[in-house]
Parts: sequence; C-alpha cells; structure tokens
Amino acid sequence: MNLQLTEDGRLRHLLTLDGLPRAILTQILDTAESFMDVGEREVKKVPLLRGKSIFNLFFEPSTRTRTTFEIAAKRLSADVVNLNIATSSQTKGEAILDTVDNLAAMHADMFIVRHAQSGAAHFIARHVAPHISVINAGDGRHAHPTQGLLDMFTIRRFKGEFHNLTVAIVGDVLHSRVARSQIHALTTLGVPEVRVIGPKTLLPTGVEQMGVKVFHNMEAGLAGCDVIIMLRLQNERMKGALLPSAQEYFKFFGLTPEKLALARPDAIVMHPGPMNRGVEIDSEVADGPQSVILPQVTYGIAVRMAVMAMLAGGATA
Ligand code: CP
Repeated sequence: MNLQLTEDGRLRHLLTLDGLPRAILTQILDTAESFMDVGEREVKKVPLLRGKSIFNLFFEPSTRTRTTFEIAAKRLSADVVNLNIATSSQTKGEAILDTVDNLAAMHADMFIVRHAQSGAAHFIARHVAPHISVINAGDGRHAHPTQGLLDMFTIRRFKGEFHNLTVAIVGDVLHSRVARSQIHALTTLGVPEVRVIGPKTLLPTGVEQMGVKVFHNMEAGLAGCDVIIMLRLQNERMKGALLPSAQEYFKFFGLTPEKLALARPDAIVMHPGPMNRGVEIDSEVADGPQSVILPQVTYGIAVRMAVMAMLAGGATA
C-alpha cells in the first residue's frame, strides 16, 4: 500500500520523494508557482485552509522549515499551533503516539513532523485517522521532502528546464536527508547528470545505485556544472571522527571563488542551510552573485503552501 497517495492518485501524506511520480512533483511545483504572488500582495492571504488546524511538531531544532511552514499555513488562513517540545509533556515521558492522539482530540487536520529518528513521520502517518495528513519536515538521515521540492522549484526558476542540466551535490551526503530527497527529485524530473562530490567517508556505500556519478575530487566534479548544492557537515549525526579537521575539509571540499570558477559561468550555488561559513562554503561565494541561497528560503513558503493546499484537497491561489 502506498501511504502517500490515495487510491485515485492524489497526495494523502508527504513523507518522502522516493517513488513519487513526476506528475505529482510537477503539480506541486506548478501549484507553488501560482502561490508566488500571494507574498507580494498587501493582504498576504488566501482562504483555502480557513478553519483547518495545523500542528507543527518539531522534535529537532529548525529555523527555516518550521518558520516557513508557519508562514505558509497562515497565508492559507489556517490556524497554526507550534508545539514547544521542550516544555511539552514529552519531557515527562509521554509516548509520541499519545501526544499525537491528544492533539488529534483537539481536531487537528495536519501534522508537520521533524524528528531525529528516520521513519518517525511514517510511523505517525500509519497511526492517524483518515482525515489527518502528515508532512515529513525531516526525519533522521532519511528524507526532507519539502526541502527537496523547494530546491527543485529554485532550479526551475533559475534554469527553466531540468533535462539539460548537470547538478553537483557536495559534501556530507552520508548523513544528509536533504541530499537523498534532492537525488530522488532530480532523477525523477529528468536531470541527465547528478553528481555527488565528497570524501569517501562522507558518501554512502553504493550511492551510485541512486543514479548519481561519484567524485572524490572536487575540481573534477565541479567542471561544467550548472547547479552546485553545498551541504553542511552534520556533526550531530556523525559517529566518530570521519574527517581530520574542519580546516582540512575546507581546503579540499569548501566552495571558494577559485573552485566555483570551474563550473559553468552561469552556475547557481545553493545550500539548504544552516550554513557553516569557512567549513563548506566561503563567504565570498555564499554572499556572491551566483548564490541563490536566500531565494531558496523565500520559495520554501510557496512550495509549502502548495503541499498543504494539495493535501487539503484545494490547490489554486
Ligand atoms: N534546511 C533546513 O531544514 O533548515 P532548518 O533546519 O533551519 O529547518
């Protein structure tokens, strides 16, 4: 059974981009496009989710995802509750499904879930009543589907098409839920060449089976790229020392103006955030003319509006 889709092929939950059909990905991107102008209006609201109650359940820290989900829900006129996990009854040992059941008893319509455990959002989606939708806002190293979607939206906005691009994902792919979601989306949308670049210790064994080309030399991997996606070193998920030092890492895998010059002259630089300047990216690049890192954040609002609107069964601005 596909937990994410209804029998007639509509989105029921958004848990992963793995296996999601190209038509659904494109529908989300097109719907997000139709929401882009809402943020420019004097009254930044549409009534699509009026009367709906959306609960943000973030068991892990977040700046961009939690905030843009909240803004997106408010722009759709939903009521949003941000459960403060640190002051919730989770600290008294309440089981996650008991927390979910209690919030469902308050007539929740949608849960947005971030959790350190891979599979947490699936676990909740399997449990909730049929009228409740679950969106995975990042689970362990498994998936971060709305980040993957907003990255595709950004690429489409700046590059127009997917079918003629070379895209490089650089850094700690091993611990990255974002990279996994990006790779699924890029290959589904027809990007002919997806590269992963990093030291052996930070690339998953067998990553080639996801349809990517592997480079351990950054200069070789960046040659001719249209899109460069930098990843953070996810120290919180590393077990043991996988790198000699941050300085050494920056020397070989940090994106500097000199390394960027090896990509196509019109290449864009992306980063999901949070960024560690001087570790994976030089400030001159992060703040430079080829960086689209802040537009990624802005587009995240329209993309999250699109996902929530489609889950709720309505999808036009
Ligand atoms: N990209 C991302 O997930 O950022 P946050 O951790 O700030 O939500």
